[in-house]
Amino acid sequence: MLKSDVIIACDFKSAEDTFRFLDLFKDEERKPFLKIGMELYYAEGPSIVREIKRRGHKIFLDLKLHDIPNTVKKAMAVLSRLDVDMTNVHASGTIDMMKAAKEGLTREDGSCPLLIAVTQLTSTSEERMQQELLIGASINDTIVKYAENTRAAGLDGVVCSPLEAGMVKEACGKEFLTITPGVRFADGEVGDQVRVTTPARAREIGSDFIVVGRPITAAADPVAAYRRCVKEFLGE
Ligand code: C5P
Repeated sequence: MLKSDVIIACDFKSAEDTFRFLDLFKDEERKPFLKIGMELYYAEGPSIVREIKRRGHKIFLDLKLHDIPNTVKKAMAVLSRLDVDMTNVHASGTIDMMKAAKEGLTREDGSCPLLIAVTQLTSTSEERMQQELLIGASINDTIVKYAENTRAAGLDGVVCSPLEAGMVKEACGKEFLTITPGVRFADGEVGDQVRVTTPARAREIGSDFIVVGRPITAAADPVAAYRRCVKEFLGE
């Protein structure tokens, strides 16, 4: 099982921009755990994952799969060959889809990267969820139910707001992982994130992994910002 960590969201548009950023960390003993999302993956394809792995980083491949179980299973089998450390699906794809994802991702030797699920995107408000998606429950009840489904499907945890990590742990147990974006330094810019908290507070509430983008990638000194984040979150 991977240890708690700070994951840097590599929200760059090209391999060139990504490697320019990663070169800043060349002399760091601690290789940052990185999140690669749709933009970079669709721009550069699987080679970007292989190249970043080759440089010694752990990777969370954030592609949020959501399709019929058979398609998700086959897509996950392809992703498992990329040797990522963590990847994800949408919990709204149902327990069957999540089980299929896990089967596809499990390698012949029985090993499997961490597989987590998105509950409700933090961009979805309770109002829209109820009016557009016709989900009558409260957003918190929906998040807890989707987390319980994720656990029932045998997955490792969920992506959620750090402010929701406590209630997810309460419902699903402390071993069930919470991966939380929406983290900001106490003296930093909030930007477009709404429900944010600091690295230290995220840890107190129960986050296992924090996903941090702009507070590190847009900092004047990204290496110093990363070190600060690790210190505040892990106390190292
Ligand atoms: O720059 P910032 O720290 O806001 O980046 C957060 C990262 O986490 C981005 O890659 C964003 O897409 C992702 N994310 C999020 N909220 C979610 C799910 C993913 O901010 N609910």
